[in-house]
Amino acid sequence: MKIVGLLCGREFSFPPAFLDRVNSLGAKDGVSAEFVKLGGTRMGEPARYSVIVDRISHEVEYYRGYLKHAVLQGTYVINNPFWWTADDKFFNYAVAAKLGIAIPKTVLLPQKGYPADIDLTGESLHNLEYPVDWDALLDYVGRPAILKPYSGGGWKHVYKVHNKEELLAAYDKTSPYPMTLQEFIDFKEYVRCFTFGKSDITPVHYDPKERKYHVDHAYLSAELGARVVKDAQTINQALGYEMNTIEFAVKDGIPYAIDFLNPAPDFERDRITEFYFEHVLEKMSRLVIDRALHGPASGPWPRWEEMLKIGAASGFIGAPGVVPAAVPANAPAKPAVAAQTAAAAAPASASTAPSPAAKSPAPPSGSTPK
Ligand SMILES: Nc1ncnc2c1ncn2[C@@H]1O[C@H](COP(=O)(O)OP(=O)(O)O)[C@@H](O)[C@H]1O
Ligand SMILES: [Mg+2]
Repeated sequence: MKIVGLLCGREFSFPPAFLDRVNSLGAKDGVSAEFVKLGGTRMGEPARYSVIVDRISHEVEYYRGYLKHAVLQGTYVINNPFWWTADDKFFNYAVAAKLGIAIPKTVLLPQKGYPADIDLTGESLHNLEYPVDWDALLDYVGRPAILKPYSGGGWKHVYKVHNKEELLAAYDKTSPYPMTLQEFIDFKEYVRCFTFGKSDITPVHYDPKERKYHVDHAYLSAELGARVVKDAQTINQALGYEMNTIEFAVKDGIPYAIDFLNPAPDFERDRITEFYFEHVLEKMSRLVIDRALHGPASGPWPRWEEMLKIGAASGFIGAPGVVPAAVPANAPAKPAVAAQTAAAAAPASASTAPSPAAKSPAPPSGSTPK
């Protein structure tokens, strides 16, 4: 018997429907689903779950610790708890921009303040320039601009500012969070993509003003739809997410990726519509059953260093799971490094193939879009 565990918080409609669906679809293959139950984790305790779907460890740190341990014991966790811990929006904007995705100009800002229990003085912060040249930063991103956390969600501390005065008034409310200042995209269309696995992408018409999803299959032209799907696949390949929403603001036909650090996306029936709720249930259930039975189709680890061919330069020796080329004992050091880099950058092998459930086009061959 393979068991899928669900870790979630105050969600209403998705959890029971998901457990039911996995139990009914998975029964013939011996896959069942249940809520994860935890009451203190003993080091080395064996994994009960083949797969865990994590929708809450960003808010309950004990769960994050448990999930890392579960990975060590052989559980496949969606999403990878190590990478989720490491990721932030500024880094992932920068990765995506290097991979050819349209990204609004973005600046990472020094924090307004620090948690009260950290004893910082002016001397602690001597690496920071003061005062910040706000005019220059605004000149760079343009006006109006968006001020938002470098890690966050639910529109908390997202401000639209038109000038320096508004920027500083908003910034003053943001302690202790690191913030980004971003070019405002005056969009015509706005798309939220559900992603199931790295390559199965469902773009949905989303109205940020009303915060509503719409069922509107003709919303994007075929050409724009194809670009959005390809860009979303590239982002998920680079960052390793398998359950995500990726948001694009479209201006003059160009889809700017605005927010793609949503590893516990909203799946509530009332908000995503009955149509997409059913779609999400089916896709998520098939994804976890596939992972429980067949293990990682493409692995939960990010591949940005491999896709950008900077593995060796940045000190990496290949993404985990990419076995470095065997080095003969007498081989000189330099060619061995070159061989390793070449192996890491090699065109797609089975490990980059889309999951069996994937209907969308395959990820870019070699995972190195121009
Ligand atoms: N650069 C931008 N240009 C235009 N609108 C933006 C931009 N960044 C964010 N927004 C708007 O603010 C909303 C919330 O920002 P987002 O980056 O998605 O943060 P969160 O993680 O809180 O959802 C977006 O849905 C979008 O409507
Ligand atoms: Mg968002």
